[in-house]
Amino acid sequence: MHVPELIRRKRDGEKLSADELRALIKGYTDGDIPDYQMAAFAMAVYFQSMDSDELGAWTDAMLRSGEVLDLSDIRGVKVDKHSTGGVGDKVSLILAPLAVAAGLKVPMISGRGLGHTGGTLDKLESIPGFDVNQPVGEFRRLVDDIGLGLIGQTGEIAPADKKLYALRDVTATVECIPLIASSIMSKKLAEGIDALVLDVKVGSGAFMKDVDNARKLGETMIGIGQAMGTEVRALITDMDQPLGLAVGNTLEVVESIATLRGEGPEDLTEITVELVCEMLDAADKVDDRDYTKKMLYELLQDGSALHVFREIIEAQGGNPEVCDDPTIMGVADHVVTFGAPKAGVIEHMNAEQVGLAALELGAGRHTKEDDIDPAVGLVFRKKRGETVEKDEPILEIHHNGKGLKDCVARLEKAIRIGDGPADDKPLIIERLG
Ligand code: URA
Repeated sequence: MHVPELIRRKRDGEKLSADELRALIKGYTDGDIPDYQMAAFAMAVYFQSMDSDELGAWTDAMLRSGEVLDLSDIRGVKVDKHSTGGVGDKVSLILAPLAVAAGLKVPMISGRGLGHTGGTLDKLESIPGFDVNQPVGEFRRLVDDIGLGLIGQTGEIAPADKKLYALRDVTATVECIPLIASSIMSKKLAEGIDALVLDVKVGSGAFMKDVDNARKLGETMIGIGQAMGTEVRALITDMDQPLGLAVGNTLEVVESIATLRGEGPEDLTEITVELVCEMLDAADKVDDRDYTKKMLYELLQDGSALHVFREIIEAQGGNPEVCDDPTIMGVADHVVTFGAPKAGVIEHMNAEQVGLAALELGAGRHTKEDDIDPAVGLVFRKKRGETVEKDEPILEIHHNGKGLKDCVARLEKAIRIGDGPADDKPLIIERLG
């Protein structure tokens, strides 16, 4: 295999064979193909895309780059959820324990921050001691005993996605339907699940900016799932402003714990409950959706979901006391407010700029080698549609002395105040599958 020739052919719009695509994935996973060649190939795919034969072969090669789990000996229906990525999207931290409290098993392989979006693994690692790198045997035990495991792609499961994901994060090759679909489906189909619910985000803070592209991404992933015999459904949901109030790793864990107590923001709670309801439905456990959602709200209120979160934190080496005293995770040295430049209605919030504003503070990575600062981020006091007076704080900036000026410049671009009305979008836009 001559890698520059494969890059050139993809760059020029030619179709590659299944064998060629498999060889690229194997070579990259084994370390024989360097990052710079894979980055060039990913950029060629970004511009030229892949047809369905290519995407099928590429996803299959990524899936089989490591072990494909068989969890059929573990009792219970195994269902997972995955988001295509958003700003303030901490749903997985609440959803997984809630789904377990409602009777499902959730073997969850997540990712780190990608582009301007946050990642579940980075958030979990804000909890002192929490280890997302569990060997396969331990992951199985966690799913069997506690009902869930929260891990990342490993050298054993989906190693191709582990490498490619980190590379795409820093090479502007994220927003591409075949690369997103293969990344998500390869790790999810390696989990040994019975069903998968996808949260396909659309809007300024999502990788898909319009509903047509979000639908195309959702349908592509559903098609991959069907071809591999796994039930997949998707909700297209709004990502035109941050989800909940917190953006930034530790701050999002704090908000997740509040939500697991039944004290979370309405939008975050609603979307989590909808997605768990969809997971239960995919597992054939729903007769009446309203009744199921009521039961899920109760599992948040009565502490059942938080109890599962405590258990998994402890089982994965973390300090469960964060559930009672979140300050154990550490706080940023400085908190300043960002005030409204004029009085009026918050008409629009560009969630991508908000995500980048948090990244400027150190909440995400610019290069693969960057360490993130878990304590930094933003906490909103006002969101779209709310009225503000001039200089009234719209949000808090939690920082450690890095990137404040650039963060503020991004926020000035992101937030539009006018006479109204505000952009008005439903949280759940469409159901697919
Ligand atoms: N989530 C993933 O796992 N991969 C992507 O490419 C985008 C979102």
